Amino acid sequence: MNFNELYFNSGSLTRRHFSSDLEDSLDEGRLFLRFIQKAKKPCDYERQLLRDHAGRLDAIMDGALVPPYELEIQPSGACNLRCKHCFGRFYPHLPDKIGLTEMKSLVQNVCSFQENGFRVETAKFCGTTGEPLLNTATLYGIERFKAEGRKVILYTNGVLLNGALPDSRPYRDFILQADKLNLSLDAGSAETFKKIKGADCFNNVLRGLKNLAQRKKEINSGLNIITSYVIGNENCHEISRAAKIARETGANEIWFRVDFTNLRQIKEIAPAIKESLDEAKTFEDGNFRVVSVYSENEFNSNGAAFSAQKSGCFNHYFWACIGPNGHLYPCGHRTHAGVESFGNVLEHPLRDLWANRERIQKVSYLPDKQCTVCSPSSGRRNEFVDFLFKIGFDRTWELCERHQDILNS
Ligand SMILES: C[S@@+](CC[C@H](N)C(=O)[O-])C[C@H]1O[C@@H](n2cnc3c(N)ncnc32)[C@H](O)[C@@H]1O
Ligand code: SF4
Repeated sequence: MNFNELYFNSGSLTRRHFSSDLEDSLDEGRLFLRFIQKAKKPCDYERQLLRDHAGRLDAIMDGALVPPYELEIQPSGACNLRCKHCFGRFYPHLPDKIGLTEMKSLVQNVCSFQENGFRVETAKFCGTTGEPLLNTATLYGIERFKAEGRKVILYTNGVLLNGALPDSRPYRDFILQADKLNLSLDAGSAETFKKIKGADCFNNVLRGLKNLAQRKKEINSGLNIITSYVIGNENCHEISRAAKIARETGANEIWFRVDFTNLRQIKEIAPAIKESLDEAKTFEDGNFRVVSVYSENEFNSNGAAFSAQKSGCFNHYFWACIGPNGHLYPCGHRTHAGVESFGNVLEHPLRDLWANRERIQKVSYLPDKQCTVCSPSSGRRNEFVDFLFKIGFDRTWELCERHQDILNS
């Protein structure tokens, strides 16, 4: 029995994913076009999937065992801020078990998992309830994954950007080896930062960002510095101000998301958000990009655009997460003490945990009641792959060929 047979035999695809039959192949074509024309770069998640992951998708649809494309590692369940919007605030923390020795074996474990011509391509250091830079093993992890030829992404609140190890090596020397940094700024003034994040650190964070950007120039590092901003009613008046500050401080981009834990409020302030985002866009230039992750329709969708329950979950084929306790979870949005894991990566080969029948059967039932909201990219990919599984891979590749120009745009 291959992995798809197991998946299909679990009953979840037939029951849930194939519930609404498509009328005819014309509808398929129209729907396919609607999916691939949904959004512009860099939020063109459907096009990215077909353009950048066609081989993986083909192998997955064929039932092969394929390592996840991206693995999120959460080095700490603890945080040095208390953001009012943090989705992690609802969850019980997992204990921190990843020290330097554990990080070393974790990197080896992840990098030795190669199957059917695929491997884990990206290591992303992030958190559900925690801040990665609170654990210095993160810095070692960045260095080791880069040495193994993997892409590395770091999410941080930026409070420790100016930190240094006991041997006085600055944290930024490690961070500059990564490919992408997401600095969660979330404010355009010290006052608002303190109000929504619980500490008076705005200027400290900006100093860290400035030093990082300066050093990036000196050593010609390829790090893409992204600032991000979760919009709520306490910071929506500083959207364009934050864009201006991010640009002046040396970031390459600012990405705006909305607080998905308070969607009623977001709907109420949607017109003001739209206006401020348009204003923020005026700060774009050849070196600085302003990205709004959601469209105005999505702000106004009463939560439908954010719900994890509107299609089957397919992200588990591409993405996975290792919690601060060293255990494997299907997704960073459900990596906390209230969720059952698929076993400990510090004790077992990742390959064994990944190939385990019980894991495969369990992910086939996702989303479950512990999935509330999907990240913007996950939700969109889930809906799209749900559709692709439905039309089958022959039809998928036929449509890809027909619309190659759009896919490559
Ligand atoms: C939970 S944080 C953990 C990593 C790190 N401590 C940080 O703040 O970047 C990961 C990302 O989730 C985002 N996030 C947290 N709560 C959110 C919410 N309610 N809506 C949208 N994004 C959220 C944060 O802004 C951050 O970019
Ligand atoms: S800094 Fe990150 S993990 Fe900490 S409370 Fe804020 S969003 Fe949550």
